[in-house]
Amino acid sequence: MDLSALPVDSLTKEQAARELERLAGEIAANRKAYYEHDAPVLTDAEYDALERRNLLIEQRFPALVRADSPSKSVGSAASARFNKITHQIAMLSLDNAFTDGDVADFLGRAQRFLGFEDQRALACTAEPKIDGLSLSVRYEKGQLKHAVTRGDGKEGEDVTANVLTIGDIPKNLMGTDWPEILEVRGEVYLSHAAFEALNQVQLEAGAALYANPRNAAAGSLRQLDPAITAQRPLSFFAYAWGEVSGSFAATQMEAVASFARWGFKTNADMKLCADTASLLAHYRDLGLRRAELGYDIDGVVYKVNDLALQARLGIVTRFPRWAIAHKFPPEQATTILDAIDIQVGRTGALTPVARVRPVTVGGVVVSNATLHNEDFIAGKALDRVTGLPVRGGKDLRPGDHIVIQRAGDVIPQIVDVWVDKREPDSTPFAFPHICPCPLQTPAIRGGDEQDGGLDVVRRCTGEFACPFQRLRHLEHFVSRKAFDIDGLGPRQLQDFFDWGLVKEPADIFKLEGRRSDLEGREGYGQTSLNNLFAAINQRRDIDLSRFIFGLGVRHIGETTSGVLARAFGSWEALKAAIEVAQTHRANEAYRQLEAIHGLGPRALEALLNWAAKADSPVQAGLFDDVAENLAKLRLSEVAMPARKALIEVFPDWLGLVSTLKSAAAGRPHDGYTSLAAIDGMGPVATDALLDFFAEPHNRDAVARLLEQVRPRDAEAPASDSPVTGLTIVFTGSLETMTRDEAKAQAIRLGAKVAGSVSAKTDIVVAGPGAGSKLAKASELGVRVMSEAEWAAFVG
Ligand code: IVH
Repeated sequence: MDLSALPVDSLTKEQAARELERLAGEIAANRKAYYEHDAPVLTDAEYDALERRNLLIEQRFPALVRADSPSKSVGSAASARFNKITHQIAMLSLDNAFTDGDVADFLGRAQRFLGFEDQRALACTAEPKIDGLSLSVRYEKGQLKHAVTRGDGKEGEDVTANVLTIGDIPKNLMGTDWPEILEVRGEVYLSHAAFEALNQVQLEAGAALYANPRNAAAGSLRQLDPAITAQRPLSFFAYAWGEVSGSFAATQMEAVASFARWGFKTNADMKLCADTASLLAHYRDLGLRRAELGYDIDGVVYKVNDLALQARLGIVTRFPRWAIAHKFPPEQATTILDAIDIQVGRTGALTPVARVRPVTVGGVVVSNATLHNEDFIAGKALDRVTGLPVRGGKDLRPGDHIVIQRAGDVIPQIVDVWVDKREPDSTPFAFPHICPCPLQTPAIRGGDEQDGGLDVVRRCTGEFACPFQRLRHLEHFVSRKAFDIDGLGPRQLQDFFDWGLVKEPADIFKLEGRRSDLEGREGYGQTSLNNLFAAINQRRDIDLSRFIFGLGVRHIGETTSGVLARAFGSWEALKAAIEVAQTHRANEAYRQLEAIHGLGPRALEALLNWAAKADSPVQAGLFDDVAENLAKLRLSEVAMPARKALIEVFPDWLGLVSTLKSAAAGRPHDGYTSLAAIDGMGPVATDALLDFFAEPHNRDAVARLLEQVRPRDAEAPASDSPVTGLTIVFTGSLETMTRDEAKAQAIRLGAKVAGSVSAKTDIVVAGPGAGSKLAKASELGVRVMSEAEWAAFVG
């Protein structure tokens, strides 16, 4: 019988004893993996759950507490590789709080212990719980004597030689007011940037990658060769102390301020809080900013500020009674991949979605996760950060036990799979090669397997015939940032589509004429139909930018649509520009050359100028050695990388020369280049736009739509406003208008709106909750305004 699944309340004494034995073994093994091998097997949350269960059973059966109980110890024995040093004052661990209630209980306990009957407030500090490893650094007469890891709390490893390479840790204390003997304690950690750089180095050296910054920090600190540690930019925050020869502070805040004075880095997000509410507010604030800190934190530590009160509160077994760690909800969880669904997008992309057994991750219930594309499912996609196959190359199959991660606002990801828990007869997931729509059109991956590889996306070839693509198009057309038709969503569109009433956007505006076909159908009563038709008719007059966006052209998103609307002002002007550009477009040969990776515009221009003048391919060079002939041309613009790129694509010289000659004759002309040169357009969006209007069925559908709706001419942006030509970034929440309204207003006033802060940003408008963008602005000295200041500024 599997006792681990039984609730603690229902265990018999004999079962409890067996459970405690199992837990002691399992916790010890996991501590070894975590502390000694820097390679944890369980997620932090899974490990915490083991400790909690052990504690609950011990509380129910105090007589069964084992001599080797994990509740009596912390960490893991110091490794034999290093000399051991005994801590004169034990290095404690912290009790955990998981809920607001746990925090209130902690404060209540401390207040009762101190006899604060009237619930006198107990001021506490709140600071990030850094996810690194703790270290104690001993100074005698201001000089660093030795540095020791926590080990089992009583004795740790002497890592002095390695610690001397850490820049954040002073070798000699600054100032003069330090106690003669002083042990400063804190956390060694690796920043996200340092972690990624380290893994990149590991990758290039063919060495094993670190799973996370904490393991990497531990692995780096516990190197036998300090020269290796020196190459790894470890950081350190000071937050506590061990033995001291005299008192140096009366409060936690003062103590940490002293550390800063003596040359340590201390955490800027440590805050003094008067009550539970402000502790919790800081906890939530840090939770929101967690992803932007640049290093991992796994919770917030609360400490009683008054050191005299700390001394009175003392210690219970292995935790101080005056501090607690309020953990963040785990960002990873294990669950089961129930199914892989295939959705068909507007452009025919077959997008796989994972349906998972609902599980709480990062504080919310997750039941779907992104799967990106078929290479991602097969474990063939490469991780963007490490450049290695995702999940170590393991594929995903329905039924698999998986590890799911939800960090910050990022869509849930499947980061690992337990291959050993798979049924023996399971087979790899077969990604469909036909569209799941009733037409079952082939779905293909573009590109060439040899040359540059296949596109990552498999697309349905049915285009306008594919009912799924049509529906996605219609959904896009009515969506909030396009035609925004109230009461017309995916469900209604599906109905109208199934009943043969709406096949393309223009049909939406003819629905009222089919009233009799709709009346009496479930969900379409008189009132709702009246409301629907009113909402539709309201949109017959539509902003030009919404009209363009609503067409759903690839690469023409909301911003680009706005760019086009402002640049041309009217639909007629845009249409005329598209027609001219169509005839001024580059020919196939030119586009083939333009697409070669490594061949820049200057090199291409030089080659075409040469080819235009070269008499004939044969005269241009007799020998069929592309490399040699390219070198002989002596074109300084055509450097080695460009030549290599050309050789890859053109194995023979005559082929290259004839393509160059054809491209020279088919260069794009003004009508095309001026469209592509519009700030915010570029060749990719331009080609997509021209491709769209090159298709007769697209042109016809737009023409039919224009019989129903009238795009409103775009207002030319103001040229004389205080913000004309400036680049604005909005961040945080706005109170008097939505983010979209604010953007539209700025653009109307002739400003550019950007999504991120850079040296080019002129103004950052910051509302409550602004985070990293605000920090970046102050770092770069960019002007920052509140919403009210902005409103006054633009009048
Ligand atoms: S105070 C007696 N403050 O969390 C109090 N610990 O789970 C000593 N940690 O062993 C710890 N950030 O390694 C404290 N701001 C912080 C911390 C912190 C991370 C670690 C530390 C400790 C563990 C307990």
